[in-house]
Amino acid sequence: MYLVTGATGGLGRRVVRILRERELPVRAFVRLTSRYGELENRDAELFIGDLRQDKDIQKACQGVQYIISAHGSGGDAPALDYRANIELIDRAKANGVQHFVFISVLGAGRGYQDAPVFKAKEAVEKYLQGSGLNYTILRPSGFASNLLPLAEQFRQTGIYLLNGNPQNRTSIVSTDDLAQIAVDSPNVEGACNQILSVGGPDILRREDIPRIFGRVFNREPIIVNPPLFVFDGVRSIVELVNPEAKKGLSTLRTLLANEFFCTPEEIAHLESIYNLKLESLESFLRRYLGN
Ligand SMILES: NC(=O)c1ccc[n+]([C@@H]2O[C@H](COP(=O)([O-])OP(=O)(O)OC[C@H]3O[C@@H](n4cnc5c(N)ncnc54)[C@H](OP(=O)(O)O)[C@@H]3O)[C@@H](O)[C@H]2O)c1
Repeated sequence: MYLVTGATGGLGRRVVRILRERELPVRAFVRLTSRYGELENRDAELFIGDLRQDKDIQKACQGVQYIISAHGSGGDAPALDYRANIELIDRAKANGVQHFVFISVLGAGRGYQDAPVFKAKEAVEKYLQGSGLNYTILRPSGFASNLLPLAEQFRQTGIYLLNGNPQNRTSIVSTDDLAQIAVDSPNVEGACNQILSVGGPDILRREDIPRIFGRVFNREPIIVNPPLFVFDGVRSIVELVNPEAKKGLSTLRTLLANEFFCTPEEIAHLESIYNLKLESLESFLRRYLGN
């Protein structure tokens, strides 16, 4: 039995889809408020709970052989990116889980102390490495599926808002490729007890993204590029009004201010051990947007 957390998320629902297409048994951890209709249709077993509750995690882990931790934190990294994963790892040990796949983030390990998500992921990586469990830690760059709503907006307006340095490099990953890599990890020899960076096949500059949109929709992009200090100004005002927003915004600031890309060697290694050809952002967008 595979336990998938974040099963209604951009990545998690693709993970469940692939597992069920392979007719593997899946327990999908969802909240009562989650949109889990698709998972039910795929005959995944639903476990309704909250990852903030240790007792729910304990129950969900019973009788499970594999765990794929793919949940997000929605602004509360200490409770969800950190605490819930520590509990999942402890329960995995107690239940003799055979393999634990942890979705971390590209850049974890660089010591971004001001960014709660990075800090939490880094701590969980270390805990998992010392747990004695078989594991695969995947450090993905930005997901291509996150760009679909922006692409739809672009289709209507031709406008692309690019915050921060347009020259910064990124390796946007096909969310479908990442899901396949996560599902395959327990059975791929070269992935056992490894930390792997996961990106798309191309190193892009952030300004390449609106150009790709332009090609997909056959439309000249209008790029609006406020410098980072404008983001910082808006951030200060938002944090004054809502101090709770601070944690999420400092992680976003880290994402905007730094480069997150995989080297050609990392990509070649990934393609070789998982025996797959990674999809480009343009191909992903064309596939989803029908252009
Ligand atoms: N998106 C990216 O570009 C990116 C890049 C690198 C790494 N990652 C990592 O990849 C993973 C998946 O990201 P994603 O973009 O697919 O996530 P997402 O779409 O934001 O989905 C988050 C998932 O976590 C669930 N969740 C949140 N709080 C929960 C709680 N208290 N109890 C139970 N479930 C809860 C959500 O359930 P509901 O449906 O109920 O809200 C949802 O299924 C995350 O760990 C993220 O940090 C993402």
